[in-house]
Amino acid sequence: MSANPDIQATIERLRGEFPILREQVNGRPLVYLDNAATTQKPEAVLRVMDHYYREMNSNVHRAAHELSGRATEAFEQARQTVADFLNAQRHEILWTRGTTESINLVAQCYGREQLREGDEILITAMEHHSNIVPWQFACERTGATLRVVPLLDNGSVDLAAFEELLNERTRIVALTHVSNALGSVNPVADMVHKAKDAGAVTLVDGAQAVAHFGVDVQKLGCDFYAFSGHKVFGPTGMGVLYGREALLEQMPPYQGGGEMIETVSFERSTWAELPFKFEAGTPNTAGAIGLGAALDWLTNQDRKTLAAHEADVLGYATERARATEGLRIIGDAPMKTSVLSFLLDGAHPGDVGTLLDQQGVAVRTGHHCCMPLMERYGIPGTVRAAFSVYNTRDEVDALFDGIEKVKTFL
Ligand code: ALA
Repeated sequence: MSANPDIQATIERLRGEFPILREQVNGRPLVYLDNAATTQKPEAVLRVMDHYYREMNSNVHRAAHELSGRATEAFEQARQTVADFLNAQRHEILWTRGTTESINLVAQCYGREQLREGDEILITAMEHHSNIVPWQFACERTGATLRVVPLLDNGSVDLAAFEELLNERTRIVALTHVSNALGSVNPVADMVHKAKDAGAVTLVDGAQAVAHFGVDVQKLGCDFYAFSGHKVFGPTGMGVLYGREALLEQMPPYQGGGEMIETVSFERSTWAELPFKFEAGTPNTAGAIGLGAALDWLTNQDRKTLAAHEADVLGYATERARATEGLRIIGDAPMKTSVLSFLLDGAHPGDVGTLLDQQGVAVRTGHHCCMPLMERYGIPGTVRAAFSVYNTRDEVDALFDGIEKVKTFL
């Protein structure tokens, strides 16, 4: 299961907390390797969300009654949990629907407001569509230009090119912390530092990072940090945007409605204080509470052990991949986390995925919402095994048994 018996005991216990891992799929025990798309949920999260709807359900912030008070307290406590998780202040944490909405919020409320013709936004060639398209919208509206830092063949950012592309016109640098398609980990603190020296505002897409290692926005020095709850053992439809207070103060509201106002008249309205200025309408209260429970659950684990286990599983999978004839790994950066993307000679990724599924192995195939990245490698897509804390060496073996069978079919 793991090379280390102590870690093995920890992972066995931890697997027991995830009911879905006991599912059978196509008559086989589920081997769930699609964790970059979404992670599974531990009992602690399921319990809290069930409890919320059974014993607390009520609209937050507005009502005079006890139940609303309880819901509001739990909701704001969850915000504090996120703030502690990222080392931020509570009012710098905005609830969103996910990373995508978080980035759109910044592109709209900061980008469209601040950018002028001739300004530049710098992203990397490994970005997810959600960290490309919102900036294209901002460029269309403002006349700014989107520039792209190329990658080295191993899937790392070309840091020399990054420094060359940074200039006095660079107003925003938006980069992913970890590539969803390759697993490459970017040296974000260093890149943010350089971007700030050039006078740019920085946004980090942390969707693929927070489940794998601790994140401290003060240490990173970034202005915005975005992540999704469902990729870190929490519910779908719930995300976070951290924003530096001074920038959030300067930005106009994202959407209009209830909750985000201080006063409304037909002539003019004024806005609520942070973070509520950005949170129009009834929020996803259960989602926030569920996400808070997920982060509490993760924080209460021995994260060093989990990181060592994930590194062991990825290392073992990479070893097996290298020993597999006809398999080509896509993305071999020296700093990588929990993603093995690959192609099998003569096989379309989609067919490989379908045949693996018949053997109970769940992977993702295709462009992984990174079409420009696939173009960079001249491929239509990859087969992606994305590991999480609960995956094991045995499951890696099941993947490679499956791959050998796929090779006999195709
Ligand atoms: N962004 C998600 C992934 O990489 C959906 O699979």
